[in-house]
Amino acid sequence: MKKYTNIGDILNLEEIIHQAIELKKTPFVFEGLGQHKTLVMLFFNASLRTRLSTEKAAKNLGMNVMVLNVSDAWKLEFEDGVVMDLNTTEHVKDAAQVISQYADVIALRAFPSLTDKKKDESEWILNSFVEYASVPIVNMESATGHPLQALTDAITIAELKTKKRPKVVLSWAPHPKALPHAVANSFVHMMRRSDVDFSIVHPKGYELDSAITKDTPIYHEQIAAFEDADFVYVKNWSNYIDYGKVLNNDTDWKITKEKLANAKFMHCLPVRRNVIVEDAVLDSDSSVVIQQANNRTYAAQIVLKKLLENLTK
Ligand code: CP
Repeated sequence: MKKYTNIGDILNLEEIIHQAIELKKTPFVFEGLGQHKTLVMLFFNASLRTRLSTEKAAKNLGMNVMVLNVSDAWKLEFEDGVVMDLNTTEHVKDAAQVISQYADVIALRAFPSLTDKKKDESEWILNSFVEYASVPIVNMESATGHPLQALTDAITIAELKTKKRPKVVLSWAPHPKALPHAVANSFVHMMRRSDVDFSIVHPKGYELDSAITKDTPIYHEQIAAFEDADFVYVKNWSNYIDYGKVLNNDTDWKITKEKLANAKFMHCLPVRRNVIVEDAVLDSDSSVVIQQANNRTYAAQIVLKKLLENLTK
């Protein structure tokens, strides 16, 4: 693996899931692999899980880790050929090359603006680092994707499924703030590559990018969509058509124990209790969100392992 910026960078999904589950049993067996190698993590946005689990994963492989909250540094310029006589102090061309001298792998998180769809979809921050850095790049959630989360989710489903081809439903749920599409996009990508019976349910008008959902069955009525589901993956996303707007906060879309029935409840966290989902679900055995969060370490660890192995080739 040369980089992990999207799920397409995984060639053999089943194998990587299997290897991640094995790593979880013996997390330190490859601790020599990352010796004298450094992971630099750049955060343009806040994180709890991604930050801690990726650092833990790197340390399990024996790597050194350096973290930079980009907001603590100066403002980077991303436009080419610009006269930098305003707020920006350093061009990403220079910064990415400099960081590459300190890092063997660079991981970065940069959320979308949710105001300029075209710019967000160009993945200008992530792709600038891919272009100008000379070391592998890992996406820790970008404008349009969260591939480490999606790998985690696939690992969790593989661990918990009780039938060969489980029914998995991605459901929209209400949230007071405008949230990105990244987690939903990557989950859709991942489920479309997995051997699952996959569908999406959301209010009318909350369609995700059709280039991503393609021919996935889409429903608009939650109770019917959840029938016989094995896993219900819940996420809010803001409007994609009326880009970044919150047009619906219908509390009827909140996940309840009754609606969930026998399905496992999945969510990437953080979750707003009693807005997205009621306490009775999160505090029950149906919820697998803590196991999911734990699997973030092994998703990051298998990705870093593949990148390190490629460095030494
Ligand atoms: N799920 C997830 O990416 O969590 P954080 O935003 O806390 O990293």
